[in-house]
Amino acid sequence: MVDREQDTALSQATGIVENALLGKTRAPVVHTFFDEATFTATHVVHDPENRAAAIIDPVLDYDPASGRVSHESADQVIAYVKEQGLEVAWLLETHAHADHLSAAPYLKGALGGRIAIGAHIVDVQDTFGATFNVGADFRHDGSQFDHLFADGDIFTIGEIEAAVLHVPGHTPADLAYVVGDAVFPGDTIFMPDFGTARADFPGGDARTLYRSIRRLLELPGKARLFLCHDYKAPGRDEFAWETTIAEERDGNIHAATGVSEDDFVSMREARDVTLGMPRLILPSIQVNMRAGHFPPPEDNGTRYLKIPVQGV
Ligand SMILES: [Fe+2]
Repeated sequence: MVDREQDTALSQATGIVENALLGKTRAPVVHTFFDEATFTATHVVHDPENRAAAIIDPVLDYDPASGRVSHESADQVIAYVKEQGLEVAWLLETHAHADHLSAAPYLKGALGGRIAIGAHIVDVQDTFGATFNVGADFRHDGSQFDHLFADGDIFTIGEIEAAVLHVPGHTPADLAYVVGDAVFPGDTIFMPDFGTARADFPGGDARTLYRSIRRLLELPGKARLFLCHDYKAPGRDEFAWETTIAEERDGNIHAATGVSEDDFVSMREARDVTLGMPRLILPSIQVNMRAGHFPPPEDNGTRYLKIPVQGV
């Protein structure tokens, strides 16, 4: 287990949350767009005094039957950013998503900002570069992104301090971003009544996910938590994506305080074998490991995505 006494990254993140909760620093404004086609929340977080903003996990619309990309979801984000007069400094990915394609390059073209992800994306690029037999032109060094963050990094959105926590388990590269009192945990935990993210993708690990979740839940209880996805838990009719660290500690159906690591791992592994592959996993991985760019066009000018066929 991580020695909490020595967990400087967690201490720094805790300090940032506490300062915002105590009113010593400004709390950010968070506005969320929820994509019902992929169950994904795109969050726009900004400093209300100087309008600096970050966009977290933006969604590109993609129809897998036709291979057609469209931008209705991203255009809604652009309209909001312009209407609010925001200056986008960052386009932040919590991880290389398997359920939607990233709109980060499209948003960067329209609004500016730097595209960032976790430094362990290079591991994801190694794994999926091999799966998709991408060839020598594909670099496995994360250089498709403008910036790679590591655990403990500190950055700012306007004058609001933000901290990076590496929270692997769902994938090897997952990050949580702590922005003032707002925490964006990526695919680790979901709403308390839905539970936690799957841990069966290549490089995923239920035990590692448990430890990442335990670490996140040591942040101050009043921290606002803005989730990456929601799937409506049984008995709930509305999508929801905001809760608090305290509510997760008290009531997360998979990982509340008191659930042991072994019990979590047994539950998670038993559940994961019942889950089908996400509808957009094959296109998503190929695009998202390239920072949201499609593979280069072939000599006829068309871009292609591959389907590795199995069981032939
Ligand atoms: Fe994910």
